[in-house]
Amino acid sequence: MKFLLLLQFLVCLASRVAGKVYGRCELAQVLKEAGLEGYRGHPLADWLCMAFYESRFNTSLVQHEFDGSTSNGIFQINSRLWCGDYKHFQPNKCQIHCSDLLTSSIRDDIVCAMRIAQGPRGLGAWMGWSEHCAGRNLTIWLDDCEL
Ligand SMILES: *[C@@H]1O[C@H](CO)[C@@H](O)[C@H](O)[C@H]1NC(C)=O
Ligand SMILES: *[C@@H]1O[C@H](CO)[C@@H](O)[C@H](O)[C@H]1NC(C)=O
Repeated sequence: MKFLLLLQFLVCLASRVAGKVYGRCELAQVLKEAGLEGYRGHPLADWLCMAFYESRFNTSLVQHEFDGSTSNGIFQINSRLWCGDYKHFQPNKCQIHCSDLLTSSIRDDIVCAMRIAQGPRGLGAWMGWSEHCAGRNLTIWLDDCEL
C-alpha cells in the first residue's frame, strides 16, 4: 500500500515536470483557448506553423545557441532576454525560469510568447516563422481540426 502511494506520487511528479510532444490539432485547441487566435493580427495557423518550425511541437526541446544562451520549449523562448537560467545576468522579461518552459503545461509559454509578439517584429522575432511561414498559405495547418 505504501509502495503504491509512493509510486503514484512519483508518476504524478514525473508527469508534472516531463515535457510532451503535442499533436497538431491538440495544440491548436490549447492555443485557441488561450486567446492566440487573431492575437496581434495572427490567425491560429500562423502560431501553429511557427511552433512547428521552432520545436516540432516538442515542449522538452532545449537548443544551445552560439552566444551561450538557450532556446526553450515549444516556442523556443530564449534566455538572453525572456527567461532566466540563474547562470547569467538576464533581464528575464517574462519573469520565468527557463526550465518551466519545458513542461507539458504551456500556459506560461503562451503568456511569454504573447509578450514577445508585442515587439515591433511581431512573429518575425521567430526565425522559424520568418523562414518557413511568413507570406505563405497556412490553411493546411488547421486541416481536419475540430475547434
Ligand atoms: C523532444 O525533445 C527531447 C529533448 O531534446 C528529446 O529527448 C525527445 O526525443 C524529443 N521527442 C521527440 C518525439 O522528438
Ligand atoms: C490556401 O490553400 C487552400 C487549400 O490548401 C485553398 O483552398 C485556399 O483558397 C488558399 N487561400 C489562398 C488565399 O490562396
